[in-house]
Amino acid sequence: MSRPIHALIDLSALEHNLSVVRRHAPRSRVMAVIKADAYGHGLMRAAKALKSADGFAMLELDAAICLREAGFRQTILLIEGFFSVSELALLEHYQLSTVIHHSEQLEMLSAYKRPGGLDVFLKLNTGMNRLGFTPEQFSSALESLKSNLAVGQVTLMTHFACADEPGGEVVTRQLECFNTVTAGCNLSRTLANSAAILRYPKTHADWVRPGIMLYGASPFPDTAASKLGLCSAMTLSSRIISIQNLRTGDKVGYGHVFRADSPMRVGIVAGGYADGYPRHAPIGTPILVNNKRTRILGRVSMDMLHVDLSGIESAGVGSPVTIWGGEIPVDEVAQSADTISYEILCSLAPRIPRIET
Ligand SMILES: Cc1ncc(COP(=O)(O)O)c(C=O)c1O
Repeated sequence: MSRPIHALIDLSALEHNLSVVRRHAPRSRVMAVIKADAYGHGLMRAAKALKSADGFAMLELDAAICLREAGFRQTILLIEGFFSVSELALLEHYQLSTVIHHSEQLEMLSAYKRPGGLDVFLKLNTGMNRLGFTPEQFSSALESLKSNLAVGQVTLMTHFACADEPGGEVVTRQLECFNTVTAGCNLSRTLANSAAILRYPKTHADWVRPGIMLYGASPFPDTAASKLGLCSAMTLSSRIISIQNLRTGDKVGYGHVFRADSPMRVGIVAGGYADGYPRHAPIGTPILVNNKRTRILGRVSMDMLHVDLSGIESAGVGSPVTIWGGEIPVDEVAQSADTISYEILCSLAPRIPRIET
């Protein structure tokens, strides 16, 4: 038998979460964000489950080509755009859309003399200060695209910096900036990520770009995914592979950071930081053994972690463990480890078999 850790990927949860997006943004097309191997779920697998999406967004040209060759006919958008002029012929050949976010890309496009129909998403920096043209540069960038015979359809785009935070002042400011700068442009628009889809209907526009909510995790630190009607698409399951019976004063694992105050049983679980479990998850991070909630103990090792079996007398070698998913929302593990579900999901190691359910 192989090492007993695997990620169950629930395809119907992905479909369900897409329907939640559609319920929130019924008049918008949906560009499913499947970058980072679909947030760890597997790009092709997620794309198949999300086949009714109107488009897909990702980073790598190779992955985009694979998707097109697999028969997906929707818009496929490279959200960091292209990096050299040599990629443009491939974009055109495979009818891939690209974000344009800086002037070097405009220059490469100008150098690409072939008249054609490259669809582009022109990105405006409305305050995130990561990618995009400034409001001052925007109209000349748009003119450059309009006069370029290689360019087909232009869609206007921005990205929110703080849509997951309470208050909404930054979203309002970014939206106002976007509306002011793009006023009078009769072009499609896209602004909203998951948090904006769920909280700011004014931002929905022609396309929404959900990522994390499709995978059943919450974009908000203060709202559980289940409260948003989302279903977790990944369950990381393992088993107990050894049991330790500790005496009072015995310590556990690297650094001996946990000490037993009384005799207790500890389970050793196949799953560690080389599998993608956060090494800095503290003692107390929730985990499920034999369907009972308990906590991790000691330091997470490369391939194993320790769990408290107090009160779970039935647990022994071979007992099932849910590391996250279902009763243990990935958001809870993330919060305990002082990170976000995005990072946990994306960090799931390639060595973990993904099994579709
Ligand atoms: C440009 C862009 N749009 C949309 C998304 C999806 O965001 P989320 O996963 O928060 O829905 C991302 C993800 O980081 C992104 O970079």
